[in-house]
Amino acid sequence: MFSGELKTADRKYQIHSLHHPIDAQDPLIIASGSGVRIRDIEGREYIDGLSGLWNVNIGHGRGDVADTAAQQMKTLAYFSGYAGSATIPSIRLAERLIGLAPGMAAVFFTSGGAEANESAFKTARYYWRALGKPEKTKIISRIHGYHGVTLQAMSATGISAYWKMFEPRVPGFVHVPTCYPYRFQSANPGETPGAGAARELEQTILREGPDTVAALIGEPIQGAGGVIYPTDDYWPQVREICSRYNILLIADEIITGFGRTGRWFSLEHWNVSPDILSFAKGVTSGYLPLGGIMVTRAIQDLLDSVEPANRWMHGYTNSGHPACCAAALRNIQIIEEENLVENSRKMGDVFFRTLQAAFADHPNVGDIRGGKGLLAALEFVEDRGSSKNFAVEKDFGNRLRKELRNRGVVTRTRSAAGEHPAPGDQVLFAPPLIIGKEDVEALVEITKDAVAAVLRN
Ligand SMILES: Cc1ncc(COP(=O)(O)O)c(C=O)c1O
Repeated sequence: MFSGELKTADRKYQIHSLHHPIDAQDPLIIASGSGVRIRDIEGREYIDGLSGLWNVNIGHGRGDVADTAAQQMKTLAYFSGYAGSATIPSIRLAERLIGLAPGMAAVFFTSGGAEANESAFKTARYYWRALGKPEKTKIISRIHGYHGVTLQAMSATGISAYWKMFEPRVPGFVHVPTCYPYRFQSANPGETPGAGAARELEQTILREGPDTVAALIGEPIQGAGGVIYPTDDYWPQVREICSRYNILLIADEIITGFGRTGRWFSLEHWNVSPDILSFAKGVTSGYLPLGGIMVTRAIQDLLDSVEPANRWMHGYTNSGHPACCAAALRNIQIIEEENLVENSRKMGDVFFRTLQAAFADHPNVGDIRGGKGLLAALEFVEDRGSSKNFAVEKDFGNRLRKELRNRGVVTRTRSAAGEHPAPGDQVLFAPPLIIGKEDVEALVEITKDAVAAVLRN
């Protein structure tokens, strides 16, 4: 009764992210969570295979984060972080973050990821303009990249479904192929996918004109686009190309930050340091909304050196919100105290190995991605030899999501976007960093059953 009434009210009153009423037929209404598990309003329990939306890194139901935020709200719920004022938690958090991110010098806070990327794009433009190069405004991003849905972030996003009903996109956003080892076909024989994608990036920069390009943005390991792992040569080459052509490198670490990949930030895997680092999600593990950008000393010095009339005229009411910053500080303390970066690395290895043992010989699994922390994916194909995708009408991805849910796992799937080299159906995983071996194995076992059920029917 209660559940039926809630579902009716949801359909009647709420517009959802990526809204379509077709998805409201059997909505998942989650009422509570504890650890790696969530419970719906009918009392069914699920393993949270995606940590909410790739963000609940410390797991659900941590009362101490709630208590910290509540205490801050009672002491001071809000004060502005505009120039000339600040609050204690925002200062402490900025200091803490800079201690965690090598090469970064200063932080600006937002409420989430898209706002962080908006801030990164504007800062890149501002940087070049302040240096007397106002024509350097274009942003290069990668196909299959996801950077949020505000107009600029949407224009950087390399998944056309996000923009096709909102055209025209913001001018000056240019897409390049990403390093997608399973699907990338280099025109040059013998070239690795990383070298091929880096070469295409360089060609694009030369075609657009390096003097017109402000920055390149990329997720070090792509998330929503299919948990795409690059080859190890890719990011060092991209860094070198950006430096050579005076293009800022923006690392979108919104999913990959805060231990998700077994390091605090994922570009560390390749010893690469960005010029701007966007973060959100895991900074508070979703307990309250928060995001931001970190910048290098060179960018900070420039912001500090302009005439007051040319100040960085950017900011949000909620920048440095004290309750959100207090929650972030407690969240980071938990990640540290409970060695969750290390657990992510260890359980990520177990997860990847278990996925490989379960699916390496499966005739319909074309690619198994993982190995850097708790971020993994399977890509399904009708035929492994030719990498031919299942027909779109087969609806493999959506059916797999339902079979997983029936068996007690909630996670993200992607549906095939057509023929090879377009991506096939995929299942994506990013469980909370507190997960243990038993639950990792349960996740893989349930996935095996669910895949078999989809193939049977
Ligand atoms: C890599 C990446 N960038 C940006 C965003 C946008 O963040 P938000 O939804 O907080 O605006 C997301 C969200 O999923 C993301 O995964």
